[in-house]
Amino acid sequence: MSSELSPIDKAKFVAAKRAAQFVEDGMRVGLGTGSTAAWLVRCLGEMVREDGLRIRGVPTSARTAQLAREVGIEVISLDEAKWLDLTIDGADEFDGDLNLIKGGGGALLQEKIVATASDQMIVIADIGKEVEHLGAFPLPVEVIPFGWQTTQALVEETLISMDVLGRTSTLRMNGDRPFHTDEGNYILDLHLNRIGNARQLSLVLNQMPGLVENGLFIDICDAVVIGFGNGKVEVRDINAGTSSTERLDFVESDNLFADLGD
Ligand code: A5P
Repeated sequence: MSSELSPIDKAKFVAAKRAAQFVEDGMRVGLGTGSTAAWLVRCLGEMVREDGLRIRGVPTSARTAQLAREVGIEVISLDEAKWLDLTIDGADEFDGDLNLIKGGGGALLQEKIVATASDQMIVIADIGKEVEHLGAFPLPVEVIPFGWQTTQALVEETLISMDVLGRTSTLRMNGDRPFHTDEGNYILDLHLNRIGNARQLSLVLNQMPGLVENGLFIDICDAVVIGFGNGKVEVRDINAGTSSTERLDFVESDNLFADLGD
């Protein structure tokens, strides 16, 4: 079954599989959103069902909550958990300081709240997500629907004084309607091409009325597990300053690979 996976899916899978090894019995775990995080949820579900791992998961989206329940993970709210031991999530881009762009799946708000409420955040990604400078991936920002075009104009005006190469933005659509986040908000994708000062940009964006949160994760991620299409995984820990590589075997598992929905 695993041989049917594309190299990029293999890379996502091995990153998720390796990251699942950081999860220990009794932990409260933030569960990310997206195709890479979906692999993690499946791996953890298998560990719960087959190895008796006892964890409680706080999902970062309605779709992650549904998948977590389907694979047998006990789901609790962030308010029930209050604080988390570890969050594992995907990313759209990560740089050498492990600063991130997230929100390609539209879940950046819950993802940032959950990651920030965690002792540790580990990002899982295929090697294609590594960049020298953030910004080639359009930066998602979540805005409330009321007056969103005014907010968009304010964002674009503010970008004139920011260290970025592009300054246009688009409303994310779902077919012919605006995409709605789990909180009922809209997403503006900012086409910046290159972000010179991500920390400054994040602070400035979050001061705007109508803008709820942006997809820059600065100083939140502690480690990244990078997957490669040949089964190699690299673990980089920014706090310890360490990096190690290993190779994971693809283990055929009908439970894990059945019903791929994400
Ligand atoms: C969801 O809103 C995002 O932050 C995802 O974590 C990010 O888009 C990565 O998704 P993939 O793992 O599907 O690439």
